Amino acid sequence: MRSLAGEAGWAGRDVLDVGCGTGFHLPRFASEAATVTGVDPHPDLVALARRRTRALPNVTVHHGTAQDLPLPDASVDVVHARWAYFFGPGCEPGLAELDRVVRRGGVALVVDNDPTRSTFGGWFRRGYPDVPDADTVERFWSTHGWTRTPVDMGWRFSSRADLESVVRIEFDGATAEAILAEHEGLEVDYAVNLWSREF
Ligand SMILES: C[S@@+](CC[C@H](N)C(=O)[O-])C[C@H]1O[C@@H](n2cnc3c(N)ncnc32)[C@H](O)[C@@H]1O
Repeated sequence: MRSLAGEAGWAGRDVLDVGCGTGFHLPRFASEAATVTGVDPHPDLVALARRRTRALPNVTVHHGTAQDLPLPDASVDVVHARWAYFFGPGCEPGLAELDRVVRRGGVALVVDNDPTRSTFGGWFRRGYPDVPDADTVERFWSTHGWTRTPVDMGWRFSSRADLESVVRIEFDGATAEAILAEHEGLEVDYAVNLWSREF
């Protein structure tokens, strides 16, 4: 996968992961960043992220939301949000918060699905028909000054059971069973969009 570090070097900088979930990405940022802050509204996930990073002195995890970030003005250099809150139309309150917390010269990176390409993209269109169409989403981001970088990635599982479990997490029962009946093997090609903006 194209590297995030190539898009926004975070060495020695203050990083914010919005919607950090269980904190999976925090240690990677922490290995080079000056400080790393994770924010998530779900208390159980905050607890897991804190547990994951308890030995990392430069990581803090806060309970909070993208729309009301528990951070001071101009306190962040690099924002990362992966499959969290920033899905296009409707995320304007979170974008206003990024304007407030990101320092001049900072960068924000949002990773989301690209429903126009790839096997997973087709599954996504089928499972989430109410998501705004790709043109609407693209127009939203470009109107707000963001740039799209298409990225090709993929899932590779070591067992069919693992693939099936993940598909059943991602989609409702009927959609998941239909997908699994059609799709063979242990791999799924998956296109995403990396949306970025400099401040
Ligand atoms: C699909 S998970 C992704 C977690 C993580 N970013 C990752 O890539 O592993 C979506 C996350 O967004 C969080 N979330 C939901 N609403 C949010 C909001 N308003 N502001 C910030 N995060 C939110 C959820 O609690 C969840 O942790």
